Amino acid sequence: MCIITVKFFKKIQVKPNVKRIAIFASGSGSNAQKIIEHFQKNKDVEVSIVLANRPDAYVLQRADNFEIPTHVFDRDEFYHSDEVVKLLQSLNIDLIVLAGFLWLIPENLIKAFPTKIINIHPALLPKFGGKGMYGNRVHKAVLEAAEQESGITIHYVNEHFDEGEIIHQSKYKIEQGDDVDMIAYKGQQLEHLHYPKVIENLLKKMSK
Ligand code: GRF
Repeated sequence: MCIITVKFFKKIQVKPNVKRIAIFASGSGSNAQKIIEHFQKNKDVEVSIVLANRPDAYVLQRADNFEIPTHVFDRDEFYHSDEVVKLLQSLNIDLIVLAGFLWLIPENLIKAFPTKIINIHPALLPKFGGKGMYGNRVHKAVLEAAEQESGITIHYVNEHFDEGEIIHQSKYKIEQGDDVDMIAYKGQQLEHLHYPKVIENLLKKMSK
């Protein structure tokens, strides 16, 4: 069964010449918030909707705070229906931004939005990516491998975890004594700085 719960639906109006973003997240949504804040004063770009696969994902609260419509879906709806695709198409979404979204993107969504789905990963892909590599698991693996540096990767999404074409990477140094929390912090600073700007550049290229 599909449960569609779009809050602030009355606020959704498809404005001409505005690029529309849909953000997918599973958890806290600190990146989602930075992206929303970045585009608040930009008349040409709108975060139209935030989607989550968990009703308790804190990202939903963050979206509510900005009166951005949200939609929560379950596995059945996501993998066995076209409801999410239809919703995004009805909103004329130009770019789908994954920001801490942990489920694999199904083929129907990739086909409906070819090269229009991007993700951020907290390491320098192709190293330390793939199924099960998320959050502190990534940072632990980086420390165990005694890497001298780590970073972030923003990439297009295909039907495999963390394998699409790389759009942007930024690095930071791992200092002696850095623990998982410290490198997670360093990575998050880079993510918050770069993800909104990379999205803005991609949208600018799309308007040409
Ligand atoms: C980020 O580290 C991102 O690289 C990864 O998931 C995390 C999401 O963090 N894909 P937040 O929910 O945006 O705080």
